[in-house]
Amino acid sequence: MTYIDWDEKYSLHVKEIDDQHKNMFLLFNKLQDGMRTGKSKEELENALSELIDNTVIHFATEEKLMQQFSYVGFVEHKRIHDDLIADARELQKRFSQGRITLTEKVSVFLTDWLTDHILDMDKKYAPLFRSESSS
Ligand SMILES: [Fe+2]
Ligand SMILES: [Fe+2]
Repeated sequence: MTYIDWDEKYSLHVKEIDDQHKNMFLLFNKLQDGMRTGKSKEELENALSELIDNTVIHFATEEKLMQQFSYVGFVEHKRIHDDLIADARELQKRFSQGRITLTEKVSVFLTDWLTDHILDMDKKYAPLFRSESSS
């Protein structure tokens, strides 16, 4: 099992967003902990829900700011958010139905789900967010 440690490379230097990303990493690590220590299915379901619900709130924050700052990449970014949530909900459903167990493969999926999006997509809006929030 791998934890996601916060690293400067994930920082967008936008405090509100960085704080939310850090919190998502914490929730992911909590889920990892639960998997590592063999927590009950119910507890793992709760931890997974908490991570996904928190991500939904985070995406809404980003989308609100993108619209506020007239970000040109808004439509594409929102579509990717919607796809990520759909994938996570599918995973959540299968786990609840007992069709999958939370394994190393799932944690790799979630690690990529969290970190690749920040490094690929969120980095693109960061300069705009920084200039808008400092002006
Ligand atoms: Fe983000
Ligand atoms: Fe995003």
